[in-house]
Amino acid sequence: MRLQVRFTRMLALTAVVIACGAARASAADLAAARKNYDTFCAKCHGDSGQGNGSQAATLGTKPASFADCSAMAKLSDDAIFKAIKDGGKAVGKSPEMPAAGEAFEDSEIRDLVTYVRSFCRK
Ligand code: HEC
Repeated sequence: MRLQVRFTRMLALTAVVIACGAARASAADLAAARKNYDTFCAKCHGDSGQGNGSQAATLGTKPASFADCSAMAKLSDDAIFKAIKDGGKAVGKSPEMPAAGEAFEDSEIRDLVTYVRSFCRK
């Protein structure tokens, strides 16, 4: 009986340790995504995702604002993923949105999806 209690406690402790590890990893992933965004995306999409990067004025199509929550709510994660991976043309948007599939792993693109979504704050 006592052994069982100890075992249960050990299991609970293990779960906490694993959960903390996972949380830390995803914070690191998000930090990496922010860096990727700042390097590869901000020049068009803007530092805070509002579609006002330094290059935005030179584009035929103004990048949509990621801070626009109602517009973002209409986009599925899959659609955002595909736009980033395969480019604007692949999702029926402007071909000026470059495909990043060569530059990033799928996992990095998924983290970019999460990061891009973080610009909408209600
Ligand atoms: C050369 C400028 C440019 C760069 C660099 C760029 N984008 Fe875009 N992006 C655009 C344009 C233009 C659109 C299309 C807007 C439209 O057609 O409504 C777009 C569309 C998108 C969309 C789809 C939004 C929607 O409304 O469907 C996502 C998501 C996106 N970009 C994410 C990114 C990410 C993440 C990066 C960096 C890896 C990036 N973009 C780099 C210009 C750019």
